[in-house]
Amino acid sequence: MSKSQFVSVESEGDIALICIDNPPVNASGVAVRQGILDALDTARALGAKAIGLYCAGRTFVAGADITEFGKPPLSPGLPEVCDILEASEIPIVAAIHGTALGGGLEIAVACHARVAVATARVGLPEILLGLLPGAGGTQRAPRLAGIPNALDLILSGRQVGAVEALKMGLIDRIDEGEMREVALAAGQDVVAGTLGARRTDMLQTQADDAALKAAEAQVRAKHPHLVSPLKCVEAIAASTGPIKEGLAVERAAFLHCLGTPQSNGLIHAFFGERAVANIPEKKVAPRDVSSLGVIGGGTMGSGISTSALMAGLAVTLVEVTQEALDRGVATITGNLEGAVKRGKMSAAKRDAALARLTASTDLNSLSDVDLVIEAVFENMDVKKEIFGKLDAICKQGAILASNTSYLDINEIAAMTSRPADVLGLHFFSPAHIMRLLEVVVGEGTAPEVVATGFALAKRMKKVGVRAGVCDGFIGNRILGHYLKCASYLVMDGAHPDQVDRALEGFGFAMGPHRVGDLAGLDIGYMTRKRLAPTRPAQERYGGAIADRLSENGWNGRKTAKGYFVYEEGQTRENPDLDGIIADERQKAGITPRAFEDQEIVDRYMTAMISEAARVLEDGIAQRPVDIDVVFLMGYGFPRFRGGPLHYADTIGAAELIQRIEGYAREDAHYWQVPNLLRKMAADGTTFADLNKGN
Ligand code: 3HC
Repeated sequence: MSKSQFVSVESEGDIALICIDNPPVNASGVAVRQGILDALDTARALGAKAIGLYCAGRTFVAGADITEFGKPPLSPGLPEVCDILEASEIPIVAAIHGTALGGGLEIAVACHARVAVATARVGLPEILLGLLPGAGGTQRAPRLAGIPNALDLILSGRQVGAVEALKMGLIDRIDEGEMREVALAAGQDVVAGTLGARRTDMLQTQADDAALKAAEAQVRAKHPHLVSPLKCVEAIAASTGPIKEGLAVERAAFLHCLGTPQSNGLIHAFFGERAVANIPEKKVAPRDVSSLGVIGGGTMGSGISTSALMAGLAVTLVEVTQEALDRGVATITGNLEGAVKRGKMSAAKRDAALARLTASTDLNSLSDVDLVIEAVFENMDVKKEIFGKLDAICKQGAILASNTSYLDINEIAAMTSRPADVLGLHFFSPAHIMRLLEVVVGEGTAPEVVATGFALAKRMKKVGVRAGVCDGFIGNRILGHYLKCASYLVMDGAHPDQVDRALEGFGFAMGPHRVGDLAGLDIGYMTRKRLAPTRPAQERYGGAIADRLSENGWNGRKTAKGYFVYEEGQTRENPDLDGIIADERQKAGITPRAFEDQEIVDRYMTAMISEAARVLEDGIAQRPVDIDVVFLMGYGFPRFRGGPLHYADTIGAAELIQRIEGYAREDAHYWQVPNLLRKMAADGTTFADLNKGN
């Protein structure tokens, strides 16, 4: 056996077996690439008649090594390795398990045959990183699977299972067994002629102009901001000609996308979602949680229950009245039904999930659960009362969590004799769909309770972000600040529709007024009323227009009227809105002025970044990336911009300070330069540096 650091080769009879072993996901970094070429030479020297290529560990190659992107290219490149594999005179069969993604699938399709175990999944997810397959995927996938399948895979970035991959022609056979044996048997079958082996580049892609045209139109409509989807279509279109030319088109397109702000933003988001798990408590063992109590059967409580049931937990749902309880159970049942319809779970799993649900109107039924999540309406007195009762009812060691979106966890914990067991678990609505979970750590929360919050998030397939206690934690505190900016823009002359469209042009799925209508304008109204007593005298009040809407009973979609009117599936402007706006401007003595869309975006984003910087300064968020992930996953922030603080680095601290100082000439209370930005401008650091802990 010969062995480089990550790639080994051995022979058994006529077959050479090449094994890639680069944990955790066998990414094809430079050492792997060189190792494959060296192993091919060895296989030749061994006189092999066929080669079986497989991976150790949990997966076949899961892609190029993303950490190499943005650094000077290291030779040999993956495209070269794939070309050499394809040109090998000894037939090579790839044996796939785990997830063969991106460069991993590209290696496989450059081989001469492919087998996979039934649990394997394959995909070309480069688009999710603002890229396209750059090692022949856009050329070889359509040759094997046809243009429509290649478009589907490459434009969606989705993973397909072995059965679907077989149907598409991406793999040749489904086998079972341990991977070395699967690779060996496949190699032997190639030699015996019972498994066909051929060069993919010898196949002809069947032209399909209609599919390409339709895909291009769809991409333009669906991803108006993104560069790489169109480049994917362009490269796939080139697959009908000679492969050399197609590969050149692909390479040029790949290099066009690599290193762009969009791709950098998407890669930041990819690593960010993983980086947030890096918490001080990461080495602390979590407590076992197999049963959950959920108090409150409203939208939040039902969503949390649904998510927990889908994760295999037992749930006891508690409501005050039988009627409310029945409504909660009906919502959960409907949510699970929806999951079945969307193909997220089987009917049998739904039935098993519902069998794990207990419904009760008695808080005492929570005496034996491992963790309770209180999800009643936002009223401190009610929450305090519940936590006092839970303290008496719940077993020792049970964790008591509140799903509050802004209230003080320390005050709630103080109602119990066990503040170490209390924390905030702030889910986002709809909780069975949204993947963000703010894990709010109180003054007294024990490390193992924090660790349990994160373990629960993972089990429920959510991304936990560690947050400190303040009004609104990370997300809602920052939201509260920049929504004031939106309200000032409207008071000063911009129209709500213009504000929304400017921000949608920036990449938000919906502008703040459309989001307000969707969430219910009464929520903001109640928040403004709640915060009124603490509002500083110098603070400009921007909520007058929204107040008027709510006071008219126009709370958005649920009342069919808010900033917009929603009738028969149509959205149109609220005919009363302009009058209210004019009225409120007049009352405030404002002569409206015109705003360019760019100024709207600049002010809104600068407001968001300013408060995000203060959230960091206050230690509410651990690192800039935690804030980025909260906004990407919970607030519709455009993923290709990487999050507010990743985006802030593209502007720079000095420019941000200049903007804030300019705006402060109109409102020195609202527009204040965060100390952190001053420090960053002085010492030349970026938020990216703070992520690294510099
Ligand atoms: N490069 C470098 N590191 C990678 C990586 C990659 N392609 N894929 C995963 N990792 C790292 C993760 O950052 C994580 O590191 P950490 O433990 O330090 O946080 C570790 O590997 C494990 O990853 P996950 O936590 O995500 O493990 P899972 O088991 O949940 O998921 C996976 C595994 C499905 C492979 C998932 O990691 C994934 O989707 N990876 C990215 C796949 C991808 O996008 N491939 C295409 C890359 S671009 C490309 O190939 C270009 C080519 O066309 C030229």
